Amino acid sequence: MTKPTPVNARIAGLRDLEPSARLDAVCAAAGLDQSDRALLSGAGALPLATANGMIENVVGKFEMPMGVATNFCVNGKDYLIPMVVEEPSVVAAASYMARIARAGGGFHASADDPVMRAQVQVLGVSDPAAARLRILEHRDELMALANSKDKVLTGLGGGCKDIEVHVFDDTPVGPMVVLHLIVDVRDAMGANTVNTMAELLAPKVETITGGTVRLRILSNLADLRLVRARVELEAAALDTDVLNGADVAQGIVEACALAVIDPYRAATHNKGIMNGIDPVVIATGNDWRAVEAGAHAFAARSGRYTALTRWERTASGGLSGSIELPMALGLVGGATRTHPAAQAALRLLKVKTATELAQLVAAVGLAQNMAALRALATEGIQRGHMALHARNIAITAGATGADIDRVARAIVAAGDITVDHARTILDET
Ligand code: MEV
Repeated sequence: MTKPTPVNARIAGLRDLEPSARLDAVCAAAGLDQSDRALLSGAGALPLATANGMIENVVGKFEMPMGVATNFCVNGKDYLIPMVVEEPSVVAAASYMARIARAGGGFHASADDPVMRAQVQVLGVSDPAAARLRILEHRDELMALANSKDKVLTGLGGGCKDIEVHVFDDTPVGPMVVLHLIVDVRDAMGANTVNTMAELLAPKVETITGGTVRLRILSNLADLRLVRARVELEAAALDTDVLNGADVAQGIVEACALAVIDPYRAATHNKGIMNGIDPVVIATGNDWRAVEAGAHAFAARSGRYTALTRWERTASGGLSGSIELPMALGLVGGATRTHPAAQAALRLLKVKTATELAQLVAAVGLAQNMAALRALATEGIQRGHMALHARNIAITAGATGADIDRVARAIVAAGDITVDHARTILDET
């Protein structure tokens, strides 16, 4: 087998190129061929017939910008990160923070095995405590039944690995027994796998408990499939024209403290993290609603919603950031398999396992959070955001090609970032 060419994620000057030259540079850096280039360009990447097979009542397709974040180094390996997102600043901010991070060795990430939970809800059990024990007495038999159908998964080392039983004595509909199937889904997101197993087990569970099974469905609180990433920076790496890095680092730590204690801030803080995570999840055809649900449920696991990251000062006065959250991503199945551009995005990423993808997605979330906190702790986000927003305004005013940046710069300099002013500048030239 030929060894894949390592990617150099440091592509200087990428943002100054036109989209097509940018794509050339990205494909060259990642060793992608013309067919992947065509898919990443978006033109006709998703045939209508394929789209029609993906969901119902298809009338067309909806386009979004795909950008590529540069500079990411995770566990010593470089990655070019495809990001599908409509919000300006996101790709630039991730790339910039990854550049600062790479000087200090990049991101370090780790992950649990790809283990999901499915829930089987049992009602009408007169002796829930004893029913729990009866289920556990049948643990091996239930696991064998769960693993009896998907030989491919068990052949890969996945499958049902354990069973938990949760008892709720007092619910609005009486006592409830909830069986959890703990399933290693390998490189799948896992919803289909675990839902199939849960449905398969239902009749047996009814016999064992004497109750009635209702829901049989995965839990998006994938708390056994956690991913972690951390980064460490020298304070000097955060120096700005007007502030020294130690002050910026302290500002980031103090900004994070509010998110740790206050759900109002934590929601916005975590939204900023998802600004980095969702675009990669979408670009790779994964289920971003599942990732969002898991992230926010995990953030509230103590009973109080809190931040998904922590920022601390290191003993030497530097800055260290960390993130931990559930990450249910797949490389097989669903849109990951059916959407040709998602396949090309995965080839750009060169990830070998869903766990590797999860790790770098966590690193992007951490980078995005660092960018937001750094901006909030220094000049505020509006200046940088408006500078990028100005490009959208220039396009809306009718600017094309080189005029986009020229008009954007002029309306920023004038402090009047409006379509009217952009039109005036265009008309003057
Ligand atoms: C905007 O999309 C995201 C931020 O609000 C995140 C944050 O406040 O941390 C800037």
